[in-house]
Amino acid sequence: MLLDPGHAGGSLVEDVRRGFGSAPRQLPPKWLYDDEGSRLFDEITRLPEYYPTEAERSILAEHAEDIAAACDASTVVELGSGTSDKTRTLLDAFRSPSRPGGPLRRFVPVDVSDGTLREAAAMLSTRYPGLAVEAVVGDFTLHLGDLPRGDTRMVAFLGSTIGNFYVEERRAFLGALADSLDPGEWLLLGTDLVKDVGRLVAAYDDAAGVTERFIRNALVVVNRELGADFDPGAFSYVPFWDPRMERIDMRLRAEEPQVVTVPGADLVVELATGEEIRLEISTKFRREGIRAELADAGFTVTDTWTDAAGDFALTLARRD
Ligand code: AVJ
Repeated sequence: MLLDPGHAGGSLVEDVRRGFGSAPRQLPPKWLYDDEGSRLFDEITRLPEYYPTEAERSILAEHAEDIAAACDASTVVELGSGTSDKTRTLLDAFRSPSRPGGPLRRFVPVDVSDGTLREAAAMLSTRYPGLAVEAVVGDFTLHLGDLPRGDTRMVAFLGSTIGNFYVEERRAFLGALADSLDPGEWLLLGTDLVKDVGRLVAAYDDAAGVTERFIRNALVVVNRELGADFDPGAFSYVPFWDPRMERIDMRLRAEEPQVVTVPGADLVVELATGEEIRLEISTKFRREGIRAELADAGFTVTDTWTDAAGDFALTLARRD
């Protein structure tokens, strides 16, 4: 196991300075995932309204063997790996000796959380003795160039995490990923698909209020890390569907005028009533759009699998 905590980069101070000075004010979604945020996200994935996790899991349950048979990779790299059982479904299928690339030789989980990686590595070494696990602690948007090389790789980026990126970030990310891969290497991309707006909004505005707590927790993170004095209760949660960008936009709206000091960023933020802070976007995709964006970046789509309801897609693409 290869651990490089120096790679866990990205600075909250810079993100707060940059994001709170723009309109609308915003913060990159990675700051939603402290321990409490990760716990709340886990709870989200089990909500009745939140269909993506189950949809992607069902595609993998149904098609993991097809995926393993459709590409000749012998290393699987998983970006934002977490500890999920989705990974196991994929790895189980890749172990088959009759695959085009032979049985899986190496697994490279990449995650910003050192603790999560340790857990995952422990789980994997028990379950897959003999599999080389090279964990990389890192922000996968920054360190794609540092992925271990060697035999043919398939990079898995699941969970529709790519939906968190803005259009320009998506383009930059896919471009950097293409740059870091050799021709003939692979990308397996999980994307949530455009669907009925009612279902989309419900998935991010659940009746139990878990998503609201998850989003609100970002202010608690800024308070703790930078000594800020946000009153999370002074904000209401406003998630909405942006039809032009085809994404859910998750914001907190100030319900009263407030002056917030953020000593750690040497910043005072004045918010008028009704002013909003965007904490996350969740873009939804169409098959044509995915194909076009991948083609732009230098990938050719070779296969697409969806769940029975057509809610979610797994796209396999080959570096040109
Ligand atoms: C982990 C980015 C896929 O956008 O659906 C869920 C995060 N935020 N509910 C998503 C999330 C609020 C999730 N992703």
